Amino acid sequence: MDLFEYQARDLFAKHGVPVLDGEVIETPEAAAAVAERLGGRAVVKAQVKVGGRGKAGGVKLAADPADAVEKARAILGMDIKGHTVHRVMLAQTADIKEEYYVSFLLDRTNRTFLAMASVQGGVEIEVVAEENPEALAKIAVDAVEGVTPAKAAEIVAAAKFPAEVADQVAEVLQKLWTVFIAEDALLVEVNPLVKTGDGKVIALDGKVSLDANADFRQPEHEALEDKAAANPLEAKAKEKGLNYVKLEGEVGIIGNGAGLVMSTLDVVAYAGENHGGVKPANFLDIGGGASAEVMANGLEIILGDPDVKSVFVNVFGGITACDAVANGIVQALELLSSKGEAVTKPLVVRLDGNNAELGRKILTDANHPLVQQVDTMDGAADKAAELAAAK
Ligand SMILES: Nc1ncnc2c1ncn2[C@@H]1O[C@H](COP(=O)(O)OP(=O)(O)OP(=O)(O)O)[C@@H](O)[C@H]1O
Ligand SMILES: [Mg+2]
Repeated sequence: MDLFEYQARDLFAKHGVPVLDGEVIETPEAAAAVAERLGGRAVVKAQVKVGGRGKAGGVKLAADPADAVEKARAILGMDIKGHTVHRVMLAQTADIKEEYYVSFLLDRTNRTFLAMASVQGGVEIEVVAEENPEALAKIAVDAVEGVTPAKAAEIVAAAKFPAEVADQVAEVLQKLWTVFIAEDALLVEVNPLVKTGDGKVIALDGKVSLDANADFRQPEHEALEDKAAANPLEAKAKEKGLNYVKLEGEVGIIGNGAGLVMSTLDVVAYAGENHGGVKPANFLDIGGGASAEVMANGLEIILGDPDVKSVFVNVFGGITACDAVANGIVQALELLSSKGEAVTKPLVVRLDGNNAELGRKILTDANHPLVQQVDTMDGAADKAAELAAAK
Protein backbone atom coordinates (compact mmCIF):
# COMPACT_ATOMS: atom_id res chain seq x y z
CA MET A 1 0.00 0.00 0.00
CA ASP A 2 1.34 3.38 -1.06
CA LEU A 3 0.89 6.23 1.41
CA PHE A 4 0.11 9.88 0.88
CA GLU A 5 2.97 12.32 1.53
CA TYR A 6 1.38 13.52 4.78
CA GLN A 7 1.10 9.95 6.06
CA ALA A 8 4.74 9.30 5.16
CA ARG A 9 5.64 12.53 6.97
CA ASP A 10 3.78 11.34 10.09
CA LEU A 11 5.68 8.02 10.07
CA PHE A 12 8.97 9.88 9.61
CA ALA A 13 8.17 12.11 12.58
CA LYS A 14 7.17 9.09 14.69
CA HIS A 15 10.65 7.61 14.23
CA GLY A 16 12.61 10.83 14.61
CA VAL A 17 13.32 11.76 10.99
CA PRO A 18 13.38 15.58 10.90
CA VAL A 19 10.33 16.98 9.06
CA LEU A 20 8.55 20.32 8.88
CA ASP A 21 5.31 21.11 10.65
CA GLY A 22 2.24 20.80 8.48
CA GLU A 23 -1.43 19.95 8.33
CA VAL A 24 -3.84 18.40 5.86
CA ILE A 25 -7.03 20.17 4.81
CA GLU A 26 -9.87 19.44 2.41
CA THR A 27 -11.38 22.89 1.81
CA PRO A 28 -9.68 26.12 0.62
CA GLU A 29 -11.16 28.11 3.54
CA ALA A 30 -9.40 25.89 6.08
CA ALA A 31 -6.04 27.02 4.66
CA ALA A 32 -6.17 30.45 6.32
CA ALA A 33 -6.02 29.28 9.93
CA VAL A 34 -3.37 26.65 9.20
CA ALA A 35 -1.14 29.14 7.33
CA GLU A 36 -1.58 31.55 10.23
CA ARG A 37 -0.46 28.88 12.68
CA LEU A 38 2.55 28.02 10.50
CA GLY A 39 3.71 31.64 10.54
CA GLY A 40 1.85 33.10 7.54
CA ARG A 41 3.93 31.69 4.68
CA ALA A 42 3.30 28.11 3.70
CA VAL A 43 3.82 25.59 0.92
CA VAL A 44 0.54 24.18 -0.40
CA LYS A 45 0.99 20.62 -1.64
CA ALA A 46 -1.43 18.35 -3.48
CA GLN A 47 -1.86 14.97 -1.74
CA VAL A 48 -2.05 12.40 -4.53
CA LYS A 49 -0.30 9.06 -4.85
CA VAL A 50 1.65 9.94 -7.96
CA GLY A 51 5.07 11.51 -8.58
CA GLY A 52 5.83 14.81 -10.29
CA ARG A 53 3.24 16.84 -8.40
CA GLY A 54 5.40 19.95 -8.39
CA LYS A 55 5.85 19.95 -12.17
CA ALA A 56 2.10 19.47 -12.63
CA GLY A 57 1.38 22.61 -10.61
CA GLY A 58 0.43 20.78 -7.45
CA VAL A 59 3.08 22.38 -5.18
CA LYS A 60 2.77 26.15 -4.68
CA LEU A 61 4.26 28.69 -2.31
CA ALA A 62 1.77 30.94 -0.48
CA ALA A 63 2.98 34.28 0.84
CA ASP A 64 0.30 34.75 3.51
CA PRO A 65 -2.94 33.17 4.79
CA ALA A 66 -5.14 34.82 2.12
CA ASP A 67 -2.77 33.59 -0.58
CA ALA A 68 -2.82 30.10 1.00
CA VAL A 69 -6.61 30.02 0.53
CA GLU A 70 -6.20 30.98 -3.13
CA LYS A 71 -3.45 28.41 -3.74
CA ALA A 72 -5.45 25.70 -1.96
CA ARG A 73 -8.48 26.62 -4.10
CA ALA A 74 -6.36 26.27 -7.25
CA ILE A 75 -4.91 22.89 -6.27
CA LEU A 76 -7.95 21.18 -4.71
CA GLY A 77 -9.92 19.43 -7.44
CA MET A 78 -6.96 19.53 -9.81
CA ASP A 79 -6.32 16.42 -11.89
CA ILE A 80 -2.73 15.18 -11.68
CA LYS A 81 -2.05 12.28 -14.04
CA GLY A 82 -5.56 10.94 -13.53
CA HIS A 83 -5.60 11.48 -9.75
CA THR A 84 -8.08 14.04 -8.43
CA VAL A 85 -6.75 16.15 -5.57
CA HIS A 86 -9.11 15.83 -2.59
CA ARG A 87 -6.65 17.06 0.06
CA VAL A 88 -3.75 19.45 0.28
CA MET A 89 -1.06 19.65 2.91
CA LEU A 90 0.09 23.03 4.13
CA ALA A 91 3.69 22.86 5.27
CA GLN A 92 6.16 25.28 6.76
CA THR A 93 8.49 26.75 4.18
CA ALA A 94 12.13 25.77 4.17
CA ASP A 95 15.01 27.99 3.11
CA ILE A 96 16.53 25.45 0.72
CA LYS A 97 20.26 25.60 -0.06
CA GLU A 98 20.74 22.09 -1.43
CA GLU A 99 18.45 19.20 -2.43
CA TYR A 100 19.49 15.55 -1.90
CA TYR A 101 17.87 12.17 -2.46
CA VAL A 102 17.85 9.11 -0.17
CA SER A 103 15.83 5.90 -0.18
CA PHE A 104 15.67 2.31 1.03
CA LEU A 105 13.91 -0.38 -0.90
CA LEU A 106 13.58 -4.10 -1.36
CA ASP A 107 15.85 -5.16 -4.21
CA ARG A 108 14.14 -8.35 -5.33
CA THR A 109 16.56 -9.10 -8.16
CA ASN A 110 19.56 -9.16 -5.86
CA ARG A 111 17.64 -10.61 -2.91
CA THR A 112 18.67 -7.84 -0.57
CA PHE A 113 17.72 -4.38 0.63
CA LEU A 114 19.18 -1.43 -1.18
CA ALA A 115 20.08 2.09 -0.16
CA MET A 116 20.12 4.76 -2.85
CA ALA A 117 21.47 8.26 -2.31
CA SER A 118 22.40 11.29 -4.38
CA VAL A 119 23.48 14.87 -3.78
CA GLN A 120 21.57 15.78 -6.93
CA GLY A 121 18.06 15.31 -5.50
CA GLY A 122 14.88 17.23 -6.28
CA VAL A 123 12.33 16.99 -9.03
CA GLU A 124 14.92 15.93 -11.65
CA ILE A 125 16.12 12.77 -9.86
CA GLU A 126 14.67 10.50 -12.57
CA VAL A 127 16.74 12.39 -15.17
CA VAL A 128 19.86 12.08 -12.99
CA ALA A 129 19.30 8.33 -12.62
CA GLU A 130 18.89 8.00 -16.37
CA GLU A 131 21.61 10.27 -17.72
CA ASN A 132 24.14 10.38 -14.92
CA PRO A 133 23.78 7.06 -13.07
CA GLU A 134 27.12 7.41 -11.24
CA ALA A 135 25.58 10.35 -9.36
CA LEU A 136 23.15 7.92 -7.71
CA ALA A 137 24.97 5.70 -5.21
CA LYS A 138 23.55 2.22 -4.66
CA ILE A 139 24.64 0.28 -1.61
CA ALA A 140 23.28 -3.12 -0.55
CA VAL A 141 22.00 -3.31 3.03
CA ASP A 142 22.09 -6.63 4.85
CA ALA A 143 18.68 -7.45 6.31
CA VAL A 144 20.10 -8.69 9.60
CA GLU A 145 22.80 -6.09 10.16
CA GLY A 146 20.71 -3.18 8.92
CA VAL A 147 21.96 0.39 8.76
CA THR A 148 24.64 0.60 11.43
CA PRO A 149 26.60 3.85 11.90
CA ALA A 150 29.32 2.30 9.72
CA LYS A 151 26.82 1.42 6.95
CA ALA A 152 25.33 4.93 7.12
CA ALA A 153 28.84 6.39 6.76
CA GLU A 154 29.47 4.12 3.78
CA ILE A 155 26.32 5.39 2.02
CA VAL A 156 27.21 9.01 2.82
CA ALA A 157 30.71 8.52 1.41
CA ALA A 158 29.51 6.69 -1.71
CA ALA A 159 27.09 9.50 -2.57
CA LYS A 160 29.74 12.14 -1.76
CA PHE A 161 27.68 14.20 0.67
CA PRO A 162 29.49 17.41 1.70
CA ALA A 163 31.41 17.12 4.98
CA GLU A 164 29.29 19.71 6.79
CA VAL A 165 26.11 17.60 6.44
CA ALA A 166 27.68 14.11 6.58
CA ASP A 167 26.82 13.45 10.24
CA GLN A 168 23.26 14.69 9.93
CA VAL A 169 22.61 12.68 6.77
CA ALA A 170 24.07 9.55 8.45
CA GLU A 171 21.69 10.14 11.36
CA VAL A 172 18.72 10.56 9.01
CA LEU A 173 19.66 7.35 7.18
CA GLN A 174 19.65 5.35 10.41
CA LYS A 175 16.27 6.76 11.46
CA LEU A 176 14.85 6.20 8.01
CA TRP A 177 16.00 2.58 8.23
CA THR A 178 14.08 2.34 11.51
CA VAL A 179 10.97 3.53 9.65
CA PHE A 180 11.65 0.93 6.95
CA ILE A 181 11.98 -1.96 9.41
CA ALA A 182 9.58 -0.97 12.19
CA GLU A 183 6.76 -0.19 9.75
CA ASP A 184 7.39 -3.15 7.42
CA ALA A 185 7.90 -0.92 4.39
CA LEU A 186 8.91 -1.97 0.88
CA LEU A 187 10.06 1.56 0.07
CA VAL A 188 10.91 4.69 1.99
CA GLU A 189 12.10 7.60 -0.09
CA VAL A 190 12.97 11.19 0.73
CA ASN A 191 13.12 13.57 -2.24
CA PRO A 192 14.19 16.16 -1.54
CA LEU A 193 16.17 15.81 1.64
CA VAL A 194 17.33 19.42 1.99
CA LYS A 195 20.05 21.46 3.60
CA THR A 196 18.59 24.72 4.87
CA GLY A 197 20.17 28.14 5.21
CA ASP A 198 20.99 27.47 8.86
CA GLY A 199 22.69 24.18 7.99
CA LYS A 200 19.93 21.76 9.05
CA VAL A 201 19.03 18.60 7.15
CA ILE A 202 15.26 18.05 6.78
CA ALA A 203 13.03 15.63 4.87
CA LEU A 204 10.74 17.80 2.70
CA ASP A 205 8.91 15.14 0.72
CA GLY A 206 8.44 11.46 1.48
CA LYS A 207 7.16 8.41 -0.26
CA VAL A 208 6.41 5.21 1.67
CA SER A 209 5.04 1.92 0.44
CA LEU A 210 3.99 -0.57 3.12
CA ASP A 211 4.09 -4.34 2.79
CA ALA A 212 0.51 -5.62 3.01
CA ASN A 213 1.84 -9.09 3.93
CA ALA A 214 2.78 -7.63 7.31
CA ASP A 215 -0.68 -6.19 8.03
CA PHE A 216 -1.28 -8.90 10.64
CA ARG A 217 1.39 -7.40 12.88
CA GLN A 218 0.75 -3.77 11.97
CA PRO A 219 -2.76 -3.09 13.32
CA GLU A 220 -2.19 0.67 13.08
CA HIS A 221 -1.73 0.52 9.33
CA GLU A 222 -5.40 -0.14 8.65
CA ALA A 223 -6.15 3.47 9.51
CA LEU A 224 -3.82 4.57 6.69
CA GLU A 225 -5.94 2.95 4.02
CA ASP A 226 -7.64 5.29 1.57
CA LYS A 227 -11.09 3.73 1.89
CA ALA A 228 -12.73 6.31 -0.37
CA ALA A 229 -10.47 5.39 -3.28
CA ALA A 230 -10.90 1.62 -2.98
CA ASN A 231 -13.16 -0.10 -5.48
CA PRO A 232 -16.32 -1.01 -3.46
CA LEU A 233 -16.35 -4.60 -4.78
CA GLU A 234 -12.66 -5.03 -3.93
CA ALA A 235 -13.31 -3.64 -0.45
CA LYS A 236 -16.21 -6.08 0.04
CA ALA A 237 -14.08 -8.97 -1.21
CA LYS A 238 -11.27 -8.02 1.16
CA GLU A 239 -13.73 -7.98 4.05
CA LYS A 240 -14.65 -11.57 3.19
CA GLY A 241 -11.02 -12.61 2.83
CA LEU A 242 -11.21 -13.24 -0.93
CA ASN A 243 -8.39 -12.66 -3.42
CA TYR A 244 -10.28 -10.47 -5.86
CA VAL A 245 -9.11 -7.91 -8.39
CA LYS A 246 -11.56 -6.00 -10.55
CA LEU A 247 -10.68 -5.81 -14.25
CA GLU A 248 -12.28 -4.02 -17.18
CA GLY A 249 -14.04 -6.85 -19.05
CA GLU A 250 -17.41 -8.64 -19.11
CA VAL A 251 -16.72 -12.30 -18.21
CA GLY A 252 -16.68 -12.93 -14.44
CA ILE A 253 -14.04 -15.49 -13.44
CA ILE A 254 -13.95 -17.80 -10.42
CA GLY A 255 -11.27 -20.43 -10.03
CA ASN A 256 -9.44 -22.36 -7.33
CA GLY A 257 -5.74 -21.59 -7.16
CA ALA A 258 -3.98 -18.45 -8.39
CA GLY A 259 -2.18 -20.23 -11.24
CA LEU A 260 -5.40 -21.68 -12.64
CA VAL A 261 -7.17 -18.31 -12.38
CA MET A 262 -4.29 -16.57 -14.16
CA SER A 263 -4.39 -19.00 -17.06
CA THR A 264 -8.19 -18.75 -17.12
CA LEU A 265 -7.83 -15.00 -17.67
CA ASP A 266 -5.57 -15.69 -20.65
CA VAL A 267 -7.86 -18.31 -22.14
CA VAL A 268 -10.95 -16.11 -21.78
CA ALA A 269 -9.16 -13.10 -23.30
CA TYR A 270 -8.09 -15.31 -26.22
CA ALA A 271 -11.58 -16.79 -26.69
CA GLY A 272 -13.06 -13.29 -26.41
CA GLU A 273 -11.29 -12.25 -29.59
CA ASN A 274 -13.78 -14.39 -31.52
CA HIS A 275 -16.72 -12.77 -29.72
CA GLY A 276 -16.38 -9.06 -30.25
CA GLY A 277 -13.38 -8.67 -27.95
CA VAL A 278 -15.01 -9.50 -24.60
CA LYS A 279 -12.50 -9.79 -21.76
CA PRO A 280 -12.25 -11.13 -18.19
CA ALA A 281 -14.06 -8.91 -15.67
CA ASN A 282 -12.00 -9.89 -12.66
CA PHE A 283 -9.51 -12.17 -10.96
CA LEU A 284 -11.01 -14.25 -8.16
CA ASP A 285 -9.20 -17.13 -6.50
CA ILE A 286 -11.40 -18.97 -4.01
CA GLY A 287 -8.44 -21.07 -2.91
CA GLY A 288 -8.18 -24.74 -2.13
CA GLY A 289 -11.07 -25.33 0.26
CA ALA A 290 -13.96 -23.98 -1.79
CA SER A 291 -16.83 -24.33 0.67
CA ALA A 292 -20.38 -23.37 -0.25
CA GLU A 293 -19.98 -20.21 1.76
CA VAL A 294 -16.79 -19.16 -0.02
CA MET A 295 -18.40 -19.97 -3.37
CA ALA A 296 -21.48 -17.93 -2.36
CA ASN A 297 -19.31 -14.99 -1.32
CA GLY A 298 -17.39 -15.17 -4.58
CA LEU A 299 -20.51 -15.43 -6.73
CA GLU A 300 -22.17 -12.61 -4.81
CA ILE A 301 -19.24 -10.27 -5.50
CA ILE A 302 -19.01 -11.18 -9.16
CA LEU A 303 -22.75 -11.07 -9.82
CA GLY A 304 -22.82 -7.71 -8.05
CA ASP A 305 -20.52 -6.25 -10.70
CA PRO A 306 -22.75 -4.52 -13.28
CA ASP A 307 -20.07 -5.03 -15.96
CA VAL A 308 -20.33 -8.82 -15.69
CA LYS A 309 -22.47 -10.42 -18.40
CA SER A 310 -21.55 -14.08 -17.86
CA VAL A 311 -19.57 -16.07 -15.27
CA PHE A 312 -17.00 -18.78 -15.84
CA VAL A 313 -16.39 -21.07 -12.86
CA ASN A 314 -13.22 -23.02 -13.57
CA VAL A 315 -12.31 -25.63 -10.98
CA PHE A 316 -9.65 -28.28 -10.88
CA GLY A 317 -10.54 -30.66 -8.07
CA GLY A 318 -7.70 -31.47 -5.72
CA ILE A 319 -7.90 -31.93 -1.97
CA THR A 320 -11.28 -30.29 -2.22
CA ALA A 321 -12.85 -32.57 -4.78
CA CYS A 322 -15.23 -31.56 -7.57
CA ASP A 323 -18.31 -33.00 -5.81
CA ALA A 324 -17.70 -30.66 -2.87
CA VAL A 325 -17.28 -27.73 -5.25
CA ALA A 326 -20.43 -28.70 -7.18
CA ASN A 327 -22.39 -28.87 -3.94
CA GLY A 328 -20.88 -25.50 -3.09
CA ILE A 329 -22.18 -24.01 -6.34
CA VAL A 330 -25.68 -25.47 -5.87
CA GLN A 331 -25.86 -24.25 -2.27
CA ALA A 332 -24.41 -20.89 -3.21
CA LEU A 333 -27.16 -20.32 -5.77
CA GLU A 334 -29.79 -21.32 -3.20
CA LEU A 335 -28.17 -19.09 -0.60
CA LEU A 336 -28.20 -16.12 -2.95
CA SER A 337 -31.82 -16.54 -3.98
CA SER A 338 -32.87 -17.02 -0.34
CA LYS A 339 -31.20 -13.67 0.36
CA GLY A 340 -33.33 -12.20 -2.40
CA GLU A 341 -30.42 -11.69 -4.75
CA ALA A 342 -31.78 -12.83 -8.07
CA VAL A 343 -29.20 -14.67 -10.13
CA THR A 344 -29.84 -13.51 -13.68
CA LYS A 345 -26.49 -14.04 -15.38
CA PRO A 346 -25.50 -17.30 -17.08
CA LEU A 347 -22.85 -19.47 -15.40
CA VAL A 348 -20.53 -21.73 -17.33
CA VAL A 349 -18.93 -24.39 -15.12
CA ARG A 350 -15.97 -26.56 -15.98
CA LEU A 351 -15.06 -29.24 -13.46
CA ASP A 352 -12.02 -31.42 -13.84
CA GLY A 353 -9.69 -33.37 -11.58
CA ASN A 354 -10.60 -35.25 -8.43
CA ASN A 355 -14.20 -36.61 -8.53
CA ALA A 356 -15.04 -34.64 -11.67
CA GLU A 357 -17.68 -37.18 -12.79
CA LEU A 358 -19.53 -36.98 -9.50
CA GLY A 359 -19.33 -33.18 -9.47
CA ARG A 360 -20.76 -32.94 -12.96
CA LYS A 361 -23.61 -35.28 -12.00
CA ILE A 362 -24.50 -33.13 -9.01
CA LEU A 363 -24.80 -30.07 -11.26
CA THR A 364 -26.72 -32.00 -13.91
CA ASP A 365 -29.17 -33.25 -11.30
CA ALA A 366 -29.62 -29.79 -9.79
CA ASN A 367 -30.62 -28.63 -13.29
CA HIS A 368 -30.33 -24.91 -12.55
CA PRO A 369 -31.65 -23.00 -15.59
CA LEU A 370 -28.69 -20.60 -15.70
CA VAL A 371 -25.91 -23.14 -15.18
CA GLN A 372 -24.36 -24.99 -18.07
CA GLN A 373 -21.37 -27.31 -18.05
CA VAL A 374 -18.56 -27.60 -20.54
CA ASP A 375 -15.90 -30.25 -20.01
CA THR A 376 -12.84 -28.49 -21.40
CA MET A 377 -11.29 -25.22 -20.31
CA ASP A 378 -11.04 -23.84 -23.85
CA GLY A 379 -14.60 -24.86 -24.65
CA ALA A 380 -15.95 -23.35 -21.44
CA ALA A 381 -14.04 -20.11 -22.02
CA ASP A 382 -15.49 -19.90 -25.51
CA LYS A 383 -19.02 -20.50 -24.22
CA ALA A 384 -18.66 -17.89 -21.46
CA ALA A 385 -17.30 -15.35 -23.96
CA GLU A 386 -20.13 -16.12 -26.39
CA LEU A 387 -22.77 -15.63 -23.66
CA ALA A 388 -21.16 -12.35 -22.53
CA ALA A 389 -21.09 -11.07 -26.11
CA ALA A 390 -24.75 -12.01 -26.64
CA LYS A 391 -25.96 -9.91 -23.69
N1 LIG B 1 8.21 22.93 2.58
C1 LIG B 1 8.83 23.39 1.50
N2 LIG B 1 9.50 24.57 1.53
C2 LIG B 1 10.12 25.03 0.43
N3 LIG B 1 10.17 24.40 -0.74
C3 LIG B 1 9.52 23.22 -0.86
C4 LIG B 1 8.82 22.64 0.26
N4 LIG B 1 8.30 21.48 -0.13
C5 LIG B 1 8.64 21.34 -1.43
N5 LIG B 1 9.37 22.35 -1.87
C6 LIG B 1 9.97 22.50 -3.21
O1 LIG B 1 9.12 21.96 -4.19
C7 LIG B 1 9.77 20.89 -4.89
C8 LIG B 1 8.79 19.79 -5.19
O2 LIG B 1 8.22 19.35 -3.99
P1 LIG B 1 8.00 17.84 -3.66
O3 LIG B 1 9.26 17.08 -3.81
O4 LIG B 1 7.34 17.77 -2.36
O5 LIG B 1 6.97 17.41 -4.75
P2 LIG B 1 7.02 16.47 -6.03
O6 LIG B 1 6.97 17.33 -7.23
O7 LIG B 1 5.90 15.58 -5.80
O8 LIG B 1 8.28 15.61 -6.06
P3 LIG B 1 8.26 14.09 -6.63
O9 LIG B 1 8.55 14.20 -8.10
O10 LIG B 1 9.34 13.47 -5.83
O11 LIG B 1 6.94 13.48 -6.38
C9 LIG B 1 10.89 20.44 -3.96
O12 LIG B 1 11.95 19.86 -4.69
C10 LIG B 1 11.28 21.74 -3.29
O13 LIG B 1 12.18 22.46 -4.10
MG1 LIG C 1 9.50 15.11 -4.29
